[in-house]
Amino acid sequence: MTARVKIFDTTLRDGEQSPGCSMNLEEKLRMAVQLEALGVDVIEAGFPIASDDDFAAVREVSGAVRRPIIAALARATREDIERAWQALQEAQHPRLHTFLATSDIHLHAKLKITREQCLEQIARSVALARSFTEDVEFSAEDATRTNLDFLCEVVRVAIQAGATTINIPDTVGYTIPREYAHILTTLQERVEGLENITLSVHCHNDLGLAVANSLTAIEAGARQLECTLNGIGERAGNASLEEAVMALRVRHDLLDYQTGIKTEEIYRSSQMLSNIIGIPVQPNKAIVGKNAFAHEAGIHQHGVLADKLTYEIMRPETVGVKQSALVLGKHSGRHALQKRYEEMGYAVSRSELDKAYKLFIKLADQKKEIYDEDLMAILQDGLREIPETFKLRNVEALAGTTKDAWATVTLERDGQMMSRTAQAGGPVGAAYAAIDFLTGMSGKLLDYSVHSVTNGRDAVGEVFAHVEFEGKEYTGRAASTDVVEASVRAYLHAINKAIHARHTNRPKEKAFMGAAD
Ligand code: KIV
Ligand code: ZN
Repeated sequence: MTARVKIFDTTLRDGEQSPGCSMNLEEKLRMAVQLEALGVDVIEAGFPIASDDDFAAVREVSGAVRRPIIAALARATREDIERAWQALQEAQHPRLHTFLATSDIHLHAKLKITREQCLEQIARSVALARSFTEDVEFSAEDATRTNLDFLCEVVRVAIQAGATTINIPDTVGYTIPREYAHILTTLQERVEGLENITLSVHCHNDLGLAVANSLTAIEAGARQLECTLNGIGERAGNASLEEAVMALRVRHDLLDYQTGIKTEEIYRSSQMLSNIIGIPVQPNKAIVGKNAFAHEAGIHQHGVLADKLTYEIMRPETVGVKQSALVLGKHSGRHALQKRYEEMGYAVSRSELDKAYKLFIKLADQKKEIYDEDLMAILQDGLREIPETFKLRNVEALAGTTKDAWATVTLERDGQMMSRTAQAGGPVGAAYAAIDFLTGMSGKLLDYSVHSVTNGRDAVGEVFAHVEFEGKEYTGRAASTDVVEASVRAYLHAINKAIHARHTNRPKEKAFMGAAD
């Protein structure tokens, strides 16, 4: 019989905790709603003790998303577990996920505890978590570098204390499929009771083996797969949800397992994440990259025209990639725009449509042909979820190869106009200097990227600006046919996010992941 594999998505926790991937509360909520639509079984919404932001994310996602299990991460300490449980109060299906490192290197160098103390701490913490809820996951951090006899002991103790899911993470992306299968098989042979609980795997991608290890683990008995969209996560990332799920689907002949994922929602979910965190998906990324279904070579095109199956192992529509269509023009009305968004699978509210329509009219003046990708880009602009404390009213820039560039920026705040001219090596730098002066917010630009959404000289350029203000990172995004304007809007977006965050949270340092009891 086809076995069911649960998909545990940790985009909002392991993914979000990696550099450049941070999301604010509204963005996490938007992502969580999409993860529910995607059909994941578990959403790990955050690590509540780590910061007030993480706590709020778990609390809000718990209140807003009803079908999936909502998991909160906690180190194996009373304080962490109590805080995580507090954050889960509104959840329909809460899960406490507690972890402790078990490898000798972690025990000695990081936690400075003995194996005996490690076992005691696991027993205490899992029992405490179990006193709050019936759904408790225990993860043996760095399991794949843990002595196997000791790992058996760890799993035994966690089960006796009441864990209902046991996770065997490849924390540093070190294992290979054969070794991972051996670890999982040994645990199932030696640990009594493991057959009655869910065995989970969580693979990092340091050697590019996260998905291969995850699939082998499923064949070796794992029934929960921990993964992230676009494979984001610590260092080289986590196992990519879309790759693992599609491998199970496409190779169903050899991998007789089923997930609850609605694969048609994959592309939309991947794009949403990329837009929120401001990290474009690499073009050759399996399943969701721009080139994943492109056939450039003549011989391939010939084959695909004769029969798609010559070079395509899955249909783009299966993962929600639609043929880009020339859809609307200057004379299309609001209704046509709304209808097209609906066809693309986006239910837009009235106010979102108002904003998107204004941007659409402006775009239609600059660009003759408007494609789905353009509509996506302007919808993202219309979805600005935070108040625009500073609004861009005008930007003029002059640049040349022999002289410094200058830019004059006019902003509006509370109905008041203010302008400033500044000089720099390039027009974007000059505009950013003028904005720093006008807003009094001096940001450190950590990363900046611009790419075209569609083809052609009049293509819409999408800009992501990753900016640090007061030690916290914010991602601004904007799209326009004018890249200087898009750059300015992206920077202002990041500034407005920083101002909004100042009013809404009191950030606390992220907790250090590895501390002991
Ligand atoms: O990689 C890891 O070990 C983790 C655990 C907290 C599950 O992320
Ligand atoms: Zn991890």
